[in-house]
Amino acid sequence: MSEVAFLQLIGLSVVGLGIAVLLFIKARFARVVGFVAIVLGLFSITALSVPQMASLPPVEEKFDVANIKTASDMAAIGQKIFFSKGQCALCHSIGPSESARCPDLKGIGAKLTREFMYESLTQPQAYIYLDFRHESQPKEYPARMPYINKNPIGLSKNEILSVIAFLQQMSGEPITVSPSEITQASDTPPAQAKPAQTAAVVPIHASGLN
Ligand code: HEC
Repeated sequence: MSEVAFLQLIGLSVVGLGIAVLLFIKARFARVVGFVAIVLGLFSITALSVPQMASLPPVEEKFDVANIKTASDMAAIGQKIFFSKGQCALCHSIGPSESARCPDLKGIGAKLTREFMYESLTQPQAYIYLDFRHESQPKEYPARMPYINKNPIGLSKNEILSVIAFLQQMSGEPITVSPSEITQASDTPPAQAKPAQTAAVVPIHASGLN
């Protein structure tokens, strides 16, 4: 029996007990207790029948080297990483979006070389892309592009190459990342980010992108 069903059974017995008290016992105090038991029992049964939602962290995408045979296999994995572990979609849209506070990545694979994309992900401060959607001067985006190869996101080299393959594919470009570049087995774990960099990312996530 599931835990919820067990608790509901207890609730049901409490209700039953309360009804029995009301039916068979005349003492006023006992009747009040019986009535309270019925109300509380019904309440708990109702509360327990509300479907539960557990919010678990997104499932880690297993990077199975054996499953990668073609460049589009890489792009497929890159797409999953883009929307899950990589957290790219928290900030970036693919196509114009009202709420986008970070560059729209539509067609980015055609705009940037793979080397430049790799640098954008691993050395985001090397070249800051400005927001040109203003009438006056272009401004810096309110968010900061995080170091993708360091914690908290901490993508491995294999994962970053796959994300680049995805960015190229969704831009309609030929994928220039080849499965042969995937490092076998023990991919080096990501380096620890300095606390300051980590802190810069947190408020953006917390405030959401509306
Ligand atoms: C915390 C928000 C945030 C997250 C998460 C994030 N980015 Fe960015 N990204 C930015 C901002 C802001 C910029 C623009 C400033 C800059 O160039 O550093 C940017 C710039 C970029 C650029 C360069 C754009 C250009 O036109 O030159 C690329 C490519 C990019 N991000 C890809 C990614 C990918 C892929 C991921 C996920 C692995 C990702 N970003 C995750 C905020 C974010």
